Amino acid sequence: MSRAQGVPAARARGDVERKIERLIAAMTLEEKAGQMTQSAGPNTDAIGAEQRPPLPLEDAIRQGGVGSMIALIPKAQMREYQRIAVEESRLGIPLLFCQDVIHGHSTVFPMPLASACSFDLRQVESSCRVAAREAAGQGIKCTFSPMLDIGRDPRWGRVCEGAGEDPYLTARMAEAHVRGYQGDDAAAPGSLLACLKHFVGYSAAEGGRDYNTCEISPTTLRNVYLPPFRAGIAAGAGMVMAAFNVLDGVPVVANRAVSHHLLREELGFEGVLVSDYAAVDELIAHGVAQNAEEAALRAVLAGLDIEMTTSHVYHHLPHLVRTGKLPESRLDESVRRILRCKFRLGIMDDPYQSLDETTEASVFCPAHRQASLEMARRSMVLLQNKGALPLNPNARIALIGPMADSKNLLGTWHFSRYTDETVTLKDGLERLGANLICRAGCAVDAAIPGGIEAALEAAKAADVILLALGEREEMSGEAASRQAPELPAPQMELARAVAGLGKPVVLVLTSGRPLILEWFTRHADAILETWFLGSMAGEAIADVLFGRCNPSGKLAISFPRQVGQIPVYYNCLNTGRPYQNDGGRFFSRYLDGPNAPLYAFGHGLSYTQFALSALSLSSAVMPMDGGVVVRAKVKNTGGCAGEEVVQLYVRDRCASISRPVRELKGFIKLALAPGQEETVAFTLCAKDLGFYGQDGQFVCEPGLFDVMVGRSSDDSEMLSAILEVRR
Ligand code: NOJ
Repeated sequence: MSRAQGVPAARARGDVERKIERLIAAMTLEEKAGQMTQSAGPNTDAIGAEQRPPLPLEDAIRQGGVGSMIALIPKAQMREYQRIAVEESRLGIPLLFCQDVIHGHSTVFPMPLASACSFDLRQVESSCRVAAREAAGQGIKCTFSPMLDIGRDPRWGRVCEGAGEDPYLTARMAEAHVRGYQGDDAAAPGSLLACLKHFVGYSAAEGGRDYNTCEISPTTLRNVYLPPFRAGIAAGAGMVMAAFNVLDGVPVVANRAVSHHLLREELGFEGVLVSDYAAVDELIAHGVAQNAEEAALRAVLAGLDIEMTTSHVYHHLPHLVRTGKLPESRLDESVRRILRCKFRLGIMDDPYQSLDETTEASVFCPAHRQASLEMARRSMVLLQNKGALPLNPNARIALIGPMADSKNLLGTWHFSRYTDETVTLKDGLERLGANLICRAGCAVDAAIPGGIEAALEAAKAADVILLALGEREEMSGEAASRQAPELPAPQMELARAVAGLGKPVVLVLTSGRPLILEWFTRHADAILETWFLGSMAGEAIADVLFGRCNPSGKLAISFPRQVGQIPVYYNCLNTGRPYQNDGGRFFSRYLDGPNAPLYAFGHGLSYTQFALSALSLSSAVMPMDGGVVVRAKVKNTGGCAGEEVVQLYVRDRCASISRPVRELKGFIKLALAPGQEETVAFTLCAKDLGFYGQDGQFVCEPGLFDVMVGRSSDDSEMLSAILEVRR
């Protein structure tokens, strides 16, 4: 930026700061506490609803008792609340309207775990841009997204909301989401503020049971759970959500070591810290606060800026300040951050910006549906294919299963009014002129009388059976943990009956998490993981089944063979007794099954083949302040065009702490015509090879590193070279 540009920007910042200070000086303690209070809105299903101000919402807004709102209400109603805040509250500070815009708004996109499997950052960013445009057009200015929790346990229902098990991939997805939502200017009409969540460690819930206790060592916290947050903060995210869970015995929302020292001092976050839903009230259930007053005090002393949905802060902060238990400066600090955020979003200057009835944004329009379709096509992962796919265009198809003609394909967290327009798999196949007979066979988790018989009858005349099985969308997401992440028994019964016909069977799987699929590896000819793909799901799946689109997704999360392996993830430590599959006993292994997952992180097939070759390093020795370029050739050796994700992994052979056997450090997705060969190049430098040690400091230690390039984390043809890092 030139000096000439810098001066007006600094002056504008100075003006904003002066306005903020003037407002803070004019505010009562109640009004300050009000800015720190986020209402659940009039119709949000609120845990702890009894804790809301015993006032009608309109009166609470009029009194300056509400600063922001989770808004699941029509725009006209939001506009009226905004009018009350601006015209009838003493200081006229506008409300900030927030919502969970997790994977699209009116047009639903693939669930985040699915879009992470695309390894396509540009597509993810533009999906978020569409979501932002649609949501902002409805009056929303902040989304509680992206979720950056590392997903190592598929029992935990929320793995579907994140980008899987890998810190590097999740960090890149964090940046793509923030860029997509916030754009170049969060104040622009089509932009939303991004809120990174859940800070931090929420996904480590013991036993995969949502909201459960988390135990994370300091090195794992810094090396595995924090990188996505660092990346999201560096990308400019304006808000962070404090998680429900305890860390080191103290719920994050009351944990100053996490909410202040780690987030503010170590990660340098300057934006707004919001609690999760009713998490301040939950301090009482956690057993760290005796009552609402103590809960509010602990949370605010720990560094919380906004209490979501309960109102302990609103009711107790003024008294806590007046009795000297809480310095007023602590409130001022939070209010300053909240007002800065409102200025940044442009709502202080133009409170009705996105609430204007005349600027109805186009939602669920053909362009947005096309964007959702593109994302969906790239998010599927072909797990197995013994040649059954792509389908022969003339094949007689029996489409069987509860997901065959279901619109339950959107996934958790959507508030779209267009659910009826969801393209089912049957619709998608019929649009392509498929020769089709369709039977449900059973419901998702219940038998249908005569269902299996009808399905078998239909399948008799077919050349191929598409088994459309899976979870309902309510079976993953928040509060949707499962002890046995498997297909429900009635679907397994249907699958067994159908497989008994001896015809080619393709499993088309809809699920919010990895499921246990061992049986299908033996009885299905192909397995296509489709996750929850959103509004255009059926069309995208049909395109892949018929080969109109070549699948290119790679797993962002490993599929365990058995529940007993969980957590199973590729970037594990070696242990002192690594097992080499040689039958030895006293190794880190199971007696009753392999260590390796069924499908590892990075795995995903295509209708063509790719070969990697000619790995080279620009230098075999790298000084600490230098870098090396890693090159490899990738060739499409098959018969059709396709896309491959070339993956760069490293391993630090010996360091002061044990380092993972493999860590993703880069990926490049590229399209290749049959026979085409390209060279891919990655750059590695010391910061890519470093880690956080026991003292919490980032360090890159000299020594030997394996540099590996492959097509999945367990690629049997992984190329490998040795790099020496010298001081
Ligand atoms: C609770 C969830 O944990 C969080 O992810 C979500 O953003 C809030 N509720 C608000 O709906």
